Order: sequence, then structure tokens, then C-alpha cells
Amino acid sequence: MTKTIAFVNQKGGVGKSTSVINVAACLANKNKSVLIIDMDPQGNTTQVYSNITDDDDSIYNLLLKKPTEKITIKSLKKNTYINDVDLLPSNVLLSSAELELVNKKHRESTLKNILKENKVHCDDYDYILLDCQPSLGLLTLNSIIASNYVIVPLHADIFSLTGLELLTKTISKIQIIYEANTTILGFFFTQVNNKEPLFQEAYNLCSEIYPDHLFNTYISAGQTIDQANATGQSVIHLSPSSKPAKDYQNLTIELMKKAS
Ligand SMILES: Nc1ncnc2c1ncn2[C@@H]1O[C@H](COP(=O)(O)OP(=O)(O)OP(=O)(O)O)[C@@H](O)[C@H]1O
Ligand SMILES: [Mg+2]
Repeated sequence: MTKTIAFVNQKGGVGKSTSVINVAACLANKNKSVLIIDMDPQGNTTQVYSNITDDDDSIYNLLLKKPTEKITIKSLKKNTYINDVDLLPSNVLLSSAELELVNKKHRESTLKNILKENKVHCDDYDYILLDCQPSLGLLTLNSIIASNYVIVPLHADIFSLTGLELLTKTISKIQIIYEANTTILGFFFTQVNNKEPLFQEAYNLCSEIYPDHLFNTYISAGQTIDQANATGQSVIHLSPSSKPAKDYQNLTIELMKKAS
């Protein structure tokens, strides 16, 4: 069965896009087929794995398609340089989707319904990974409701931990209000310098509060990540022996076990 996982954190710059990009590459390395859905108008994942212009069709056209329009996941998806990774791209047009969706019936479940309508095609993928924007607005709500799991990349600082409490409460509310079957797969720290005493403190605190949810693996900080993002590739292809590349491989193994 296809597993749909949303990478969510309302805080910006915590590594959501970087994690989607690299977990997708690591899954493909394990012979899994992956569809990435870029639900962020910033389009960072799209910029790494494809290059579309603001005039091209994007996930916006699928979310706001009129009943007469024939656009589907199959017709919209782009290939990436990795055989087993496809992408539903985003561009800046998506920023108006929040406003336009407000008047739509079942606005919170629009993406879930699209995945259902395209089930035959979605079934071709082992994993669907959703990159969310840094907010808990309607696009992120759609992503959470459409997913089996939410996974949360985190910075090791106090604001991240208080933000995590808000996020877990929000997800509980979503489960009740929208009868969503989404569960939290877990949290993991990114951009970690493990020599920093603050990191160990944050890690210990988080594992005390959320013993079932904290991933053992954390992603080390490393310049190779910026280089990989800038050159349009995953870090496991640019620098397979680097620490962040190994960390993403271990994180993916843990993710596959947790989501099984
Ligand atoms: N492990 C890492 N080591 C070093 N730099 C990293 C690492 N992970 C991410 N970065 C860098 O941190 C910045 C933010 O990462 P990224 O864009 O993935 O975060 P994000 O949560 O998707 O941000 P946004 O909330 O704006 O969508 C980028 O410049 C990225 O290259
Ligand atoms: Mg991002």
C-alpha cells in the first residue's frame, strides 16, 4: 500500500524541503518508487528536482481545476533525474491557492480527494512525500489530511520545542474535526552540531516528552547539503560518504520501519 507522508513544521528553515529531497533519493536507492508533491509556493523542492516557470502548470492547477478540466496527476507529474522519483511541481501561483480554496466545498480535503480520484496512478508509488510550507494554513491542512503520516523536522532550540507542542495539539484537533486518519510518524533533528550542549539538552528533553516519536537518527549540519541543493541533486548523489548523506540513509531506514 502506498504510504503518504507530509513533512510539516510551521517554523521556517528547519529542513523540510531538504529532507523531502534526500529521503526521496534514499528511498529510490532502496528500489522504492516515490512521488513528491510540492505543496509550498516557494517551490524549493521543485527547483532542485525540476525547472518549471511561473507559466507552467503546477499543483495549483490540480487543486483548483474546474470539473471540465482533464488535468490529472499523471498528466502533471514531471520526471526527475532519479528514475524512481517523480514530482508534482509547485510555483508561485500556489500562493493564491489558499485564498481561492476558501470558497470551495470540502476545501480542507481537496488534496485527499485528488489522491483518491487518481488512486490507480498513485498506487504505482510506494511512497508519496509532501513538502509543506512554513505555516499551518489551508495548504498544510490539506497536506496533513491527505497523508497517512506526518513527520516533523526540528531545530534543536527552545522555540522549536514549544512549536512542536502547538503542532502536536493541532494534529490531534485535525484528527477529531476532520476525522482524519493521519498519525504522527515522528520528529527528527536537523542541521545538528552534536558538540553543542544545547543539542543534547533538546534531544533528551524531546525524548522524555515524546518517547515514542523521536527518531534515533538526527541529521548533521554540513556544507554538502547547501552544495547539493544549489546544484540540483540529492546529497547522497553529490557526496555519498558525507555525514549528512549517511544520516539521511539511516533516517530513511528508520522511517521505512516506523511506517511499515
Ligand atoms: N543538514 C543541513 N546542514 C546544513 N544546511 C542545511 C541542512 N539542512 C538544511 N540546510 C540548509 O538550511 C536551509 C533551510 O533548509 P530547507 O529549505 O530545507 O528548510 P525548510 O524547512 O524547507 O524551509 P521553509 O520553511 O522556508 O520551507 C537551506 O539553505 C538548506 O540548504
Ligand atoms: Mg521548504
